Amino acid sequence: MIIIRSEEPGDIEAIFEVNSRAFGTDAEARLVNTLRDQGVMMVSLVADVGGKVAGHILLTPVTIDTPDGPVIAGGLGPMAVLPGHQRSGIGSILISAGLDACRNFGWKGVFVVGHPEFYPRFGFVPAAPLGLRYKGEEFDPYLFVKEISPGALQGISGMIRYYSAFDEV
Ligand SMILES: CC(C)(COP(=O)(O)OP(=O)(O)OC[C@H]1O[C@@H](n2cnc3c(N)ncnc32)[C@H](O)[C@@H]1OP(=O)(O)O)[C@@H](O)C(=O)NCCC(=O)NCCS
Repeated sequence: MIIIRSEEPGDIEAIFEVNSRAFGTDAEARLVNTLRDQGVMMVSLVADVGGKVAGHILLTPVTIDTPDGPVIAGGLGPMAVLPGHQRSGIGSILISAGLDACRNFGWKGVFVVGHPEFYPRFGFVPAAPLGLRYKGEEFDPYLFVKEISPGALQGISGMIRYYSAFDEV
């Protein structure tokens, strides 16, 4: 049975392990710790399978710098599922739980920089054709966005910014 719940202090080591094993490096795991230590507002959910943390998802605010000023949205990631538990639906459950958890934050949409084959199935669409970009055009094929409600991002374009800790990854 999979239980999706908010992280608790006792999960911190397991979250580090899930991220470092899934990514094969501890860069994302350290990013999660840094953001937590910085007191960044975050949604941090774990997938608990039989009492063990098998998956993790993080969402943090991102800023869209539009010609009319900053607009706040969300950023999904990192997210990770333990290698032995991948391709069994945990990632999909974490994404829908993560999107549900941030529905009332006033975010216009949720961005993700990630696998082009994975995120579109959850309603994420390429962001660059909407005039929404991250850093440089090399990110265009990997930047996706999902409106939090239909039309929420209409007329909004610009560069997006994550917390500076993301620049270290
Ligand atoms: C990406 C990741 C979180 C997906 O988690 P998961 O629990 O394996 O995902 P699910 O089992 O819900 O998979 C849902 C679907 O996406 C597909 N999928 C999973 N990972 C994929 C990937 N990396 N690329 C393309 N498709 C992928 C699965 O095959 C499955 O398709 P199906 O239903 O047609 O079989 C997990 O593979 C992972 O931790 N990868 C390493 C870390 C990483 O890349 N994180 C994401 C950074 S963008």
